[in-house]
Amino acid sequence: MLSVVLVLVFLSCGILAWRRRNRNKDEPPPLPGALPLIGHIHLLLGNSSQLWDLTKKMSYACLNAGGVASFYIGPRPMYLVTDPEDCMLITNTCLQKDAFYDFGKPWLGDGLITAAFPIWKVHRKLLNPAFNQFILDGFIDVFNRQARRLVKDLVGEVDKGPFDQFDYLLPSSLETTCLTVMAVDFSDKSLLNSKYVHATQNMYKFVTERFQKPWLHSDVTFNWSSLKRKQDESLKIMRNMSDTVLKKRKAEYLNNKKQAKPEDTAEGPKFTPFIDILLELAIEKGAFSDRQIKEHVDTLLLSGYDTTASALMYTMLLVGSYPEVQEKIGDELHNIFGDKDRDVTKQDLSELVYLEAVLKETIRMYPLAPIIARKLDQDIKLRNYTLSNGRTCLLSAYGLHRHPIWGPNVEQFKPERWLNSETLPQCPTAFSGFGMGRRICIGKSYALMSMKTTLAHVFRRYRVSGNHLLMKTNLDVMLKPVSGYYIKIEMRKKT
Ligand code: HEM
Ligand SMILES: *[C@@H]1O[C@H](CO)[C@@H](O)[C@H](O)[C@H]1NC(C)=O
Ligand SMILES: *[C@@H]1O[C@H](CO)[C@@H](O)[C@H](O)[C@H]1NC(C)=O
Ligand SMILES: *[C@@H]1O[C@H](CO)[C@@H](O)[C@H](O)[C@H]1NC(C)=O
Ligand SMILES: *[C@@H]1O[C@H](CO)[C@@H](O)[C@H](O)[C@H]1NC(C)=O
Repeated sequence: MLSVVLVLVFLSCGILAWRRRNRNKDEPPPLPGALPLIGHIHLLLGNSSQLWDLTKKMSYACLNAGGVASFYIGPRPMYLVTDPEDCMLITNTCLQKDAFYDFGKPWLGDGLITAAFPIWKVHRKLLNPAFNQFILDGFIDVFNRQARRLVKDLVGEVDKGPFDQFDYLLPSSLETTCLTVMAVDFSDKSLLNSKYVHATQNMYKFVTERFQKPWLHSDVTFNWSSLKRKQDESLKIMRNMSDTVLKKRKAEYLNNKKQAKPEDTAEGPKFTPFIDILLELAIEKGAFSDRQIKEHVDTLLLSGYDTTASALMYTMLLVGSYPEVQEKIGDELHNIFGDKDRDVTKQDLSELVYLEAVLKETIRMYPLAPIIARKLDQDIKLRNYTLSNGRTCLLSAYGLHRHPIWGPNVEQFKPERWLNSETLPQCPTAFSGFGMGRRICIGKSYALMSMKTTLAHVFRRYRVSGNHLLMKTNLDVMLKPVSGYYIKIEMRKKT
């Protein structure tokens, strides 16, 4: 009943919007497929694999339209942008996330991803130093240890045929992130670990389902839905983990302070988990409440583990699909490490140039966050159009990564393109796998360091094979594989 009323309200607002729309000359062209009154809303319905198909189709349509287009969710006009310069202008000017991000608020609160602009501005400044190179260098030991553990766990799959990489990568990345964010080792509490992984993956699905059901966009209707009850279940599991950890670490922090500080031997970076930096800011400077610390921890945990696990998954699959790429990675590793099985050092990381190119090219092909959104808080004058204040603007990394400025081989997997800065697109937003503008990913260097270390260990030991052309993906907030992503591994050196 309620949904019928809502549909009627939508329809009548639609009539008004339809009339108004046809007046504005400065509006970007509408994407194909709109129906009178409901606009593009019918395209949104369906499951998350259809949502992904739609995202690809609309991104290409937007590229064809010149890089800026409009579409209509019932009465609400929105924009889609795939032009690099315009994306840069928009994401440097508008720092307010769109209302869709509020769907993640029960979980991530005022963490950096979902925080409203005034809080984000203060907190991002406070957190930036936590990601400086000195702190990150202190994590290299953890990255090496975790990579060795992963390599060891994978032994069981050697010569056994295709297997689900995520069974290894998700727990491994979660443990790494738990260690660096909270200094907590969950490796032997696999129950909590797998429960948490399950809960977060479900949470992505719930948020996507809500997005695809416009009648659940309002809190009033959502609070009555079964989806809300399922979401609350997952939230309980995730909160339990960060609650437990925060309590423990806070007690330890206060306890350590009471004792005399251990002398800092000034020999290089020491390990400082992010939570200690947050606690110091909270306890010494009163910068955060307990709730805010928890929201930052939840945000860092999620954005740290899920993304790196996915990027590693896509990379191994792509490398397994292109033997010549795997060959070159092998050569680079051999040049740096010879036959030694030593740890990856800071120096090595800067020399793993080809491996980094492979990672970036993977994320170009498979952007983990294919679409991000901003709420326009002012009129934005682009080269050809003016976008109106108050509206939602979607920015398609998927489209940006297929823009003609990448050259004629834009659809091909070519890590080599990253090795020649002259042929790479100059506009920084052309590659937006880590977001764009002033709310760009805070963890980019962290992620690259961690992933390069992991892959160096894995490819030193194993040869992988797979076929990314068989993979099917969904858009569950993030780009998620559903099938066809399994790989096989064999030993690189037969001993
Ligand atoms: C392959 C790995 C990663 C990818 C592809 C990635 C991608 C992204 C993207 C696309 C955004 C922008 C979201 C938006 O504008 O709505 C973002 C933001 C963010 N990422 Fe990452 N990320 C990765 C790793 C990490 C890691 C390891 C961390 C932390 C340990 C992290 C923490 C964050 C945070 C806190 C934000 C919000 C920044 C802000 O709004 O100020 N990310 N990331
Ligand atoms: C999504 O829906 C389409 C069409 O109804 C169907 O073919 C497909 O199997 C569904 N995918 C998933 C992941 O449920
Ligand atoms: C702007 O308009 C010109 C000429 O019609 C077109 O070539 C170009 O692609 C458009 N660019 C954007 C970003 O809309
Ligand atoms: C919906 O539920 C949440 C808590 O689960 C509550 O904070 C919020 O105020 C509710 N909103 C409405 C409109 O009922
Ligand atoms: C939190 O997790 C612990 C350990 O798994 C469990 O004993 C406890 O009952 C959980 N608490 C809640 C509120 O779910």
